[in-house]
Amino acid sequence: MKSIVVRPPKEGTELVETESPPQPDKGEVLVRTLLTGICGTDRGIVNGRLKFARPPLKREQLVLGHESIGEVEAIGGGVELSKGDIVVPVVRRGCGVCLNCKIGRQDFCETGNFVEAGIRGHDGFMREFFLDQEMYMVKVPPQLKEIGVLTEPLSNVVKALDQLWFLQRRTLWTCEDSTYNCRTALVIGSGPIGLLFSMALSTEGFRVIVLNRRDPSEVESKITEQIGVKFLKLDDGVPPADLVVDTAGSPSTLLRLLPKLKNNGAVILFGTTSGEREELSADVITELVERNVVMVGSVNASKEHFQRGVTYLSVWHDRFPEALKLMITSEVRPEEAPEVLKAKSKGEIKTVLRWSQ
Ligand code: BGC
Ligand code: ZN
Repeated sequence: MKSIVVRPPKEGTELVETESPPQPDKGEVLVRTLLTGICGTDRGIVNGRLKFARPPLKREQLVLGHESIGEVEAIGGGVELSKGDIVVPVVRRGCGVCLNCKIGRQDFCETGNFVEAGIRGHDGFMREFFLDQEMYMVKVPPQLKEIGVLTEPLSNVVKALDQLWFLQRRTLWTCEDSTYNCRTALVIGSGPIGLLFSMALSTEGFRVIVLNRRDPSEVESKITEQIGVKFLKLDDGVPPADLVVDTAGSPSTLLRLLPKLKNNGAVILFGTTSGEREELSADVITELVERNVVMVGSVNASKEHFQRGVTYLSVWHDRFPEALKLMITSEVRPEEAPEVLKAKSKGEIKTVLRWSQ
């Protein structure tokens, strides 16, 4: 079968022939891949920039890909899923030792000895078939077959928002009418994650403003209009806000927006990059203290977050099907992967690889 492999820390990808997986054993499922998504993490691995990328033990190659959706092709003994079910696999597999990993919260692994499919120590899903344990599969309704590939990135967003709801219980953060309708969120970055945050926050009642250094592309304009959020250029009169979500990882942008935070505000740090430097002044720290600002970094997600991601997708599939479809800006064949994995193309939101129908 065809697979896309990398050899971290070496740059580049190859489309190679690998052995097809065996029939599933007890508790296992064999999945035929439908689509895999490409994200910044994949490109970081392909360009040799992501330092923690590594193949499975005693191997040189890693099958790339952590955003995936597939169809169950065969099941092993004791499995409840059926042939034909549509599933999304979770990415992180626990260390087996710490308490968080033992209760399915490997997204909070304490030892750091977890593996992540397609990223570090565990083969990913950019291949025609994969064999996996049923416990790592999230069932997706068939009507989400074409869009369910967004479940994985969305699961990360759901987890980050979970942190926010938890942390903001320190104060009364809901409005007089019990909703979040009086709250404003600034989302830095209009990539797939920025737009998924925007959709989720606006679903929860927030007024959302997506920010970028440039004007919106045509697709971005259409999506933000349909989901009812505003797109602003960074300098264009950004209003005061209760929440800043950073999906870009740029310290200068973040420092520019911190003064916009209202009292008891929150910052979600999500985007990761490297290189850019910025000075943190004592005055900024003082401001954060004086205004009771909470900041939280968030990565990865548990199976529960994947399931809640599927719920959001089902709601959006009814509310703004067009915007949801527009999120996938191109679908390419695995043969084209080595090229599209090199860099983001102009106007791209999410590029997906089609493995089967
Ligand atoms: C993935 C997460 C993963 C993270 C690692 C993201 O692209 O969606 O599952 O934990 O990369 O930094
Ligand atoms: Zn990713």
